[in-house]
Amino acid sequence: MQSWSSRLGVILAVTGSAVGLGNFLRFPGLVAEHGGAFIIPYAVAFVVIGMPIAWMEWTMGRAGGARGTAAVPGVMRVLGGRPLYGYLGALAPAIPVFLCGFYLFVEAWCLAYAWKYLVGSAPGATDALPSFVAWIGAGQEHGHLLGHGAADLWTCTCIVVAINLLIIWYGVAKGIERVCTWGMPLLIAIALAMLVRVLTLEPVEGRSVLQGLAAMWEPRDMAAKLSEGKVWLDAAGQIFFTLSVGIGTITTYAAYMKRDDDVALSGLTAASGNEFCEVALGGMIAVPAVFVFLGGAYAQYTGSSIAMGFFALPGVFEHMPGGRLFGFLFFFLLFIAAITSSISMLQPSMAFFEEALGWSRRRAVALLAAVVLVGLGTVMWGSRDTVAIDTINFWAGTLGIAVVALVTTLVFAWAWGSDAGIAELRRGAEIGLPPGLAVCMRWITPVLLLVILAWFAWGELASLRQDKGLLLALWRDRGAQLAAGWMLATFALYLWIAHRGMARWNALAAKEPA
Ligand code: ALA
Repeated sequence: MQSWSSRLGVILAVTGSAVGLGNFLRFPGLVAEHGGAFIIPYAVAFVVIGMPIAWMEWTMGRAGGARGTAAVPGVMRVLGGRPLYGYLGALAPAIPVFLCGFYLFVEAWCLAYAWKYLVGSAPGATDALPSFVAWIGAGQEHGHLLGHGAADLWTCTCIVVAINLLIIWYGVAKGIERVCTWGMPLLIAIALAMLVRVLTLEPVEGRSVLQGLAAMWEPRDMAAKLSEGKVWLDAAGQIFFTLSVGIGTITTYAAYMKRDDDVALSGLTAASGNEFCEVALGGMIAVPAVFVFLGGAYAQYTGSSIAMGFFALPGVFEHMPGGRLFGFLFFFLLFIAAITSSISMLQPSMAFFEEALGWSRRRAVALLAAVVLVGLGTVMWGSRDTVAIDTINFWAGTLGIAVVALVTTLVFAWAWGSDAGIAELRRGAEIGLPPGLAVCMRWITPVLLLVILAWFAWGELASLRQDKGLLLALWRDRGAQLAAGWMLATFALYLWIAHRGMARWNALAAKEPA
């Protein structure tokens, strides 16, 4: 079993996993869309869903590691006491690989933009370089995303996939830990420089940065907003996405810790570090800058983090003093944030393949490369506008994450037992735990997860009745079918691999932890 070389290393790796595109693009877009009132459901979701599940994953991971497994299906089988949990656990490494079906494209585009700013051919609003949005538009026109300016993106994507695979091939301490130990301080330094630049912007046509912050953060129609179900669902979805819970990452990373290492304070530190980067840095950079330069037009970008990042911001950097440097810094910042997250989406599959198939790291990387490249190729071939990406985002990024979170809660608080789980969380803990945590983990968190899942399902059924939505797309749209087909085929493969690993995990379940 691999291990981290220091405690700071695992904290930085989990924080690196959490801090990603969600912090610098998705969160600001949501706050701008809903207004400052959004922070209330967001904070509630953090306390009653995000943090409890993060602690469960840290604890289960470390306990699984002590029993000799870092693969989430193995951890769930061993702690849950039944092979069924092992099979359900196969969803955990699969979901983040599905997300990579679009996350790696966006990561590649960040790298491409950073490069263009660095070498001086910055993509302005009117530049010939096809922006992500224009590229998606080309897909709409031609029925797929090959050609039409996609060669650049495809090359960058292959480079980015290769870098990701190389890092995880180097292993947990020499690859992931080293990248995060350098990457996270660099990311924070760049984000602080960007923040100072944005906060000291001169007003443009009478629009100041303070007005930009107010337009974004002002709690508009507080009572009406708080009674809207969508605001609560968006808040819960953002908490899952940003903390990297429900994707097997924290469980796998924590399995590489020592049995008596603290997980309570480490988990809280990583989550707080993520919230600092999200609320204090991400929440004050992109949207206020877009507001100052684009005025009221900024509102049209807040619903789509991709449009804001790749369409609106280049327009801002075109006019900002020092725009070329800050354009480079911003997209490089996004790239670092994205890569420390994407490697964490791949490592759960690495641990799973190595253990269940008894393979070397090299063979595991090769299989993972094949799965990921087939997914990216499928999205590219199948995409009319963003339907393939939306299909993955909904089934994996929204429903799938919530299902994995629910399975995690069931295994931790019911199958293993909240008393045993909390006693394990307390082992080596350097902080006290909040009162009522056991009740929250056993009842409040799973009940809220069930409500969220029911709500999502209801929303999709309502869309279907209006003859639209992603369920219907599965019947009508080739892009949705290809994306769903790739996810189903991959999940079938993962179930088979879990089956191959079950004998090993059954044997581990019978042993005492080391
Ligand atoms: N947690 C990662 C992000 O925020 C996935 O982008």
